[in-house]
Amino acid sequence: RTPQQQNPGFHQFKPIKPSSQDQLIVPRGYQYDIVATWGEDLGTGERFGFNNDFTCYFGNNPNEGILWVNHEYIGNLAIYVSGYRGEGPRTPEQIRIEKYNVGGSVIHIKKDSKGKWGIVKGSQYNRRITANTPIALTGPARGNAAVGGATQVTGTLANCSGGKTLWNTAMSGEENYMDMVEDWSTAENKLNPAHYGWIVEIDPLDPKSTPKKHTSLGRFSHENAVMTVGKSGRLVVYSGDDANDQCVYKFISDGVFRRDAGKQNSRLLEKGTLYVVDLGNLKWVPLDRDKTPALTEKFKTQADVLVNTRDAAKLANGTPLDRPEDIEIHPKDGSVYIALTNNLDHGNYYGQIVRLVEDDNNSESTSFEYEVFAAGGPQSGFACPDNMAFDSQGNLWVTTDISSSKLNEGPYKYFGNNGFFMFPTQGSNRGKAFQFASAPVEAELTGPWFGPGEQTLFLSVQHPGEETKDPNNPTSRWPTGNIPRPSVVAISRK
Ligand code: FEO
Ligand code: CA
Ligand code: CA
Ligand code: CA
Repeated sequence: RTPQQQNPGFHQFKPIKPSSQDQLIVPRGYQYDIVATWGEDLGTGERFGFNNDFTCYFGNNPNEGILWVNHEYIGNLAIYVSGYRGEGPRTPEQIRIEKYNVGGSVIHIKKDSKGKWGIVKGSQYNRRITANTPIALTGPARGNAAVGGATQVTGTLANCSGGKTLWNTAMSGEENYMDMVEDWSTAENKLNPAHYGWIVEIDPLDPKSTPKKHTSLGRFSHENAVMTVGKSGRLVVYSGDDANDQCVYKFISDGVFRRDAGKQNSRLLEKGTLYVVDLGNLKWVPLDRDKTPALTEKFKTQADVLVNTRDAAKLANGTPLDRPEDIEIHPKDGSVYIALTNNLDHGNYYGQIVRLVEDDNNSESTSFEYEVFAAGGPQSGFACPDNMAFDSQGNLWVTTDISSSKLNEGPYKYFGNNGFFMFPTQGSNRGKAFQFASAPVEAELTGPWFGPGEQTLFLSVQHPGEETKDPNNPTSRWPTGNIPRPSVVAISRK
């Protein structure tokens, strides 16, 4: 048997049809387990957080490993989490509960004798990172006036998507931090917005480690971070700013990656140059006071540039885009796939996936070409691309995020609930969408991650029943038939 036969992967399946059922639907021949669910006891006195998003598996064992999971936000389902009914300020107790339920979880997971995944309760690896966990700042803004002089900040929040470093740690993007900073600030404890909106690095394999926010990577509504290495060995990290008319960025380190340096390579994220994409001139423009004169007058220090990345990007001619979500790098040709989810202000209801090819196929290049790889719409069968992952064959897998309040109506009446799609990147089906999964009512599928050997696909089911108005009569009862509970699932062949 060839390795391929042993691990047939996920790309061979009979596509499903769009659905509006309150179920997680996967193709015939596939099944799913609930790996972890909101509120689940980790056996360490801690509980799994709310609205799981990005997932990232550590270890080479296909049956047991460590999973990092982002917990993004609370939102309309606060009634179940903290009892907050959406009117007026929250009580201190409601704030405490909500701050505990965001951030991320490290969970040690394992298949049992029946092949069902679950948490290893009480494992020394199980750990919560919350909006209260101390987190170190690194890079130019550390200790700078632009962050109120802080070298360490309190907590992480709005953790949307992310990525894995080349030295086996997780990166987590702080996305829509502004509302949470406001909702959770009190007269006695005012959160500083400059402490949020960063890329956070977490080491799930070292339970005692202090997470870090790397200020060199800029501050904005970070969807994700994806890392690669350029031809001279420098690290390159791409990240999108998910808001209407915001930009795509990449960071290039000054120093070069050395595999034998292991986790010491993290220091490379402290020194380098942040660039913003200019699609008109096919250039990456450095957001550096010394290299881009338009920035020198407005910003007194490089820390100011990084804390106010959006303003700097506009001055540097960064291209406003239709909500850049996830970015992934093709495992075979190194090209960069960018999900632009939609821009309702511009009448872009369905979004696109753009493919950027760096000059000389070198991620350190400052010029490139690009094309639209796939455009959403009724004909193509998908809308609002969001999180992405490649399989080892080079197929692109994409979740969709039609806003829960707009599902199954108006421009979105063709698509059913949100879904998960495979797109071949070569051959006669290049750029065509094949639907693999359909989400429960008002849920979004997020955080796709293929486990070792592609035997398991981890997927988050986020915000089922998000439009619920009466908590006793939720719009979704997934997965238990009771109240809606965001959960991480493991999908495998039967
Ligand atoms: Fe949290 Fe841009 O999705
Ligand atoms: Ca997203
Ligand atoms: Ca991704
Ligand atoms: Ca989204």
